[in-house]
Amino acid sequence: MKVIVTKNYDEMSAKAFEIMLGVVKANPRAVLGLATGSTPIGLYRNMVRDHKENGTSYREIRTVNLDEYAGLPADHAQSYAHFMRENLFDMLDIRKENTNIENGMASDAASECARYNALLDGMQQDVQVLGIGSNGHIAFNEPGTPFGSVTHVVELTESTIRDNSRLFDRIEDVPRSAFTMGLKNIMQAKKILILANGANKADAVYGLVKGEVTEKVPASVLQLHNDCVLICDEAAAARL
Ligand code: F6R
Repeated sequence: MKVIVTKNYDEMSAKAFEIMLGVVKANPRAVLGLATGSTPIGLYRNMVRDHKENGTSYREIRTVNLDEYAGLPADHAQSYAHFMRENLFDMLDIRKENTNIENGMASDAASECARYNALLDGMQQDVQVLGIGSNGHIAFNEPGTPFGSVTHVVELTESTIRDNSRLFDRIEDVPRSAFTMGLKNIMQAKKILILANGANKADAVYGLVKGEVTEKVPASVLQLHNDCVLICDEAAAARL
């Protein structure tokens, strides 16, 4: 794994953007695997600024998102579909029909997972952007998720519900389950770009880079990927 340590969040985001821009320029029809959460917002801001200032086009770009809360409609303010529109898609020239995310309102969860897996089988990510949970999760793959997992529904752990409650009015409003790409779907990406910032990620980053490769720390599977880049700030890198 290549590790790049930056002074702060802005530098982390700028570095991530450099890599993302390289992928988009190399292939204007690239498949971008995207994440939500606080971590990639700076990357997305850089993409939007560059699109406005330099005209980089996303017209033929296709995207697949990692995960979506179960039970939230796409227009719900806390849904990940909404997050992606607000933070990225609405400000680019990307075609909405080229953006993909699990349907949180699917009435048949098993067939929704099958649909998403089939889609991913035909859409290898040129780059997959990831954040990391303080417990080492990637997407919503919580500790104990098999490395061979594909898209599935998960019950969220208390630690993830607590971490994510900051975006909801009340902790009771955080959905208890979600659809998520599995670790195998993530590992199929040609390139993985994992970002981490802040002291609360230091233990998870240690497990990602230096810990044992174990299903107890889902992110540790990335040690087995042949093109994985971690960009993290000094606080998140404190234990490396
Ligand atoms: C988001 C996702 C999550 C987050 C992780 C870190 O789509 O899959 O795994 O990347 O929970 O979240 P933040 O960036 O908010 O600290």
